[in-house]
Amino acid sequence: MSTLLYILASPRGQRSYSTQAADAFVESYRLAHPADQVKTLNVFTENLPTFDGFTLEAKYSIMHGQKHNPQEVAAWGAVEAVIAEFKSADKYLFAVPMWNFGIPYKLKHYLDVILQPGYTFSFNPKTGYSGLVTGKPVVGIYARGGAYPAGTPAEAYDYQRRYLELALGFIGFTDIKSFAVEPTLHEGPEGAKKYLEEMLPQLREAAKVF
Ligand SMILES: Cc1cc2nc3c(=O)[nH]c(=O)nc-3n(C[C@H](O)[C@H](O)[C@H](O)COP(=O)(O)O)c2cc1C
Repeated sequence: MSTLLYILASPRGQRSYSTQAADAFVESYRLAHPADQVKTLNVFTENLPTFDGFTLEAKYSIMHGQKHNPQEVAAWGAVEAVIAEFKSADKYLFAVPMWNFGIPYKLKHYLDVILQPGYTFSFNPKTGYSGLVTGKPVVGIYARGGAYPAGTPAEAYDYQRRYLELALGFIGFTDIKSFAVEPTLHEGPEGAKKYLEEMLPQLREAAKVF
C-alpha cells in the first residue's frame, strides 16, 4: 500500500481550477489504486510554523554545525513534524495556482519549512548539494489566468512551474510530471472550463499509471 500526499495550494475551494483538475486526478487514482491511502494537505489551512525567532536560529545552528539550545529544540520539533509527514509519503501531487508569476506565499512557506539540510537535502563542500527525497514520483498541476506555453516569449514569466520543479529537483525528485490548465481568466469562464475539460483525459490516464 502506498500513500499519495495531495498538497493543495489554492484557497478557492471548488472554484479553483488547479483543485478541480487535481481532484479529478485523485478520483482516477483511487479507482486504479483502491488499496492506497490519499492524504490531503491544504497549505492555506495547515498550521505551519512561522520561520522566525528560535525556529530560524535553529536552522542557522544546523548550518553552522552547532547543537540546538533547549528553545531551538522546542521550536525545531514543529519543523521536523512537517518534514516527517512529507517524507512519509510515497507519491506526491501538487495543485498550484499562479500568483504574480510564482507560487502562492503559503506554498512558499511550506517549502521553506520542508527544504532543510540534513532532512531533505545534504551539502558536502567537495561534492556540493544532494537531494535526499529520492525514488518517488511527483505530479504538479498548475492553473494560470494567462497562458505561458513552452517555446513562447510568455514562458519566461513562468516562475510557478519552473520554481516548484527546481525546488523539487533540488531535494531529489527526478520523476516530475507537470500539467497546466491555462488560460483560466483570459478567455473567460467558458474558456477556462474548456481548457480544464481538455486536460482531464490526460490527467486521468496519468493517474492510472502513477
Ligand atoms: C493574488 C493573485 C495573483 C495572480 N497572478 C497571476 C499572474 O501573475 N499571472 C496569471 O496568469 N494569473 C494570475 N492570477 C490568476 C490565477 O493564476 C488564476 O485565477 C488561476 O486560475 C488560479 O488558480 P486556481 O484557479 O487554482 O485558484 C492571479 C490571481 C491571484 C489571486
